[in-house]
Amino acid sequence: MSREPLIVRYRAADRITHWLVALCFLLLALSGLGLFYPPLFWLTGVLGTGQTARILHPFIGVLMIVGFAHLFGRLWRDNRFDAEDRRWAGDLGSVLKGHEPGDTGRYNAGQKGLFWLMTLCLLLLLASGVVIWRPYFASAFPIPLIRLALLLHATMAILLIIGIIVHVYAAIWVKGTVRAMVEGVVTPAWAKKHHPRWYREQVGNAASSPTDKP
Ligand code: HEM
Repeated sequence: MSREPLIVRYRAADRITHWLVALCFLLLALSGLGLFYPPLFWLTGVLGTGQTARILHPFIGVLMIVGFAHLFGRLWRDNRFDAEDRRWAGDLGSVLKGHEPGDTGRYNAGQKGLFWLMTLCLLLLLASGVVIWRPYFASAFPIPLIRLALLLHATMAILLIIGIIVHVYAAIWVKGTVRAMVEGVVTPAWAKKHHPRWYREQVGNAASSPTDKP
């Protein structure tokens, strides 16, 4: 077993925000499907009744956006695409066999793609959500625009739900990743295997300052 110390990947504030966003997402996805598709109306029960779900859904949406904005501010730099990402995307065969092609940094190309997909979906969900939000804002917009916004809202919600299913599957599939978001730490072996460049950066940082700094 390695004697190297565990590496900090997420500080507590980021983990708490992430799980708050995840909880909001779950409530929104279930209540949203219930409001959108009559046979699934019973799903609105996650927020009480149909009526309370209708009232609470947009407010929980705003809470999720605020939480995600925090995560975005902390993580966008590490999600910028670089030359190594082309290697990762061009060798998906190795990825599926559990090997990390290329000198991957804190996130691989798949994670980065999902990060920007989440960002795009949430921005459009927010914009379209404001247009359809009764009784506060919808009356300010013409009916054709409200219809368009409804279509956009549903499309982005479905895209985000698919994206999050992939996100959760990948997190469980790559062993040791869920620990990063629960306990905040990963093993050096995990970091070396999946994010070798980030590992070297962390080891370099630890040598100069052993603080909680990712
Ligand atoms: C619902 C169950 C969820 C689980 C089990 C889960 C799990 C995880 C795990 C384990 C990580 C750490 C990945 C790593 O460090 O390599 C992570 C990162 C992250 N998660 Fe989630 N997550 C969930 C939902 C969500 C939702 C709903 C969102 C946003 C809408 C989200 C946004 C993020 C972001 C932005 C990161 C950082 C990755 C990056 O910046 O590329 N997660 N998640």
